[in-house]
Amino acid sequence: MSSTRIRVGVTRRLPASVEARLSDLFDTKLHDRDTPLSAAALVSLAQDVDVLAATLGDKLDAAFFEAAGDRLKLVANFGAGTDHIDIAAANERGITVTNTPSVLAEDAADMAMALIVAVPRRLAEGVRALEDGNFPGWSPTWMLGRRVRGKKLGIIGLGRVGEAIARRARAFGLSIHYHNRSPINPHMEEELEATYWDSLDQMLARVDIVSVNCPHTPATFHLLSRRRLELLQPHAYVVNISRGEIVDEEALADMIEGGRLAGAGLDVYERGAPSEKLLKAPNVVLLPHLASATVESRVEMGERMIINIKMFADGHKPPDRVIL
Ligand code: DGY
Repeated sequence: MSSTRIRVGVTRRLPASVEARLSDLFDTKLHDRDTPLSAAALVSLAQDVDVLAATLGDKLDAAFFEAAGDRLKLVANFGAGTDHIDIAAANERGITVTNTPSVLAEDAADMAMALIVAVPRRLAEGVRALEDGNFPGWSPTWMLGRRVRGKKLGIIGLGRVGEAIARRARAFGLSIHYHNRSPINPHMEEELEATYWDSLDQMLARVDIVSVNCPHTPATFHLLSRRRLELLQPHAYVVNISRGEIVDEEALADMIEGGRLAGAGLDVYERGAPSEKLLKAPNVVLLPHLASATVESRVEMGERMIINIKMFADGHKPPDRVIL
């Protein structure tokens, strides 16, 4: 396969510079509307291309790969999360999958840090009070939040994004605790003054704020189950910019509503958008999946996706191959 002749199908509108570069480099079929393709349209696009430039709204499951036929050789995902792609089913058919994890880590960490501060300091409630005309004037006792400095932050999944959050959190005076399958390298651990917890349950019982930063896989579905949420102290907060499915959202909303947890800052939801229960819960800051939504990240995600496609087309190993 050579770069100029490969056919690339794009499933969503992408930043203009990315679409232009794709069209310059490859025989590219761009998408003309900013809405996801139906399952049937996805299959028909895939049947006609060597590379599918996909995004997180595209459900690429075993049935999709079965129907896609033999031409498709690469799924180049625009984004870090690949839980919408059945990687095993793709690999079984000889299809490579790539993603764009490195370029969005700093912007995603900014958003997590914003939530780590916004929830204890009741930022959204304060904005709402002003907008609703409910500001009684400054008072020594009105709308008091909790201090961030000195609190313990428990990061579930200290990878690229988790590490970028830890650096920011250190500057805000938080101490870093983390749970991974295995400890990070000792130099990094020392630099971050991070404490490793082999047992997630034990970490949860000790921290003041939990930040969810692991990928969503069958093993991490409802990792923060009702039982685990109950291990948190009542003054604790939950922050999630990874994937909604990792947290039992109904249990989280129940516990905040019942005063058993202090609040949550969420950018992602089990069913794409927040449940009614969550929308009504007190002291939650709810964002519409904005963690990587900067002009810079989205352009760099596109550029990284193009590097993966080009390397693959030129017969090299793409740098961001997703390995199971
Ligand atoms: C990702 O990259 O998976 C984010 O959730 C969307 O940018």
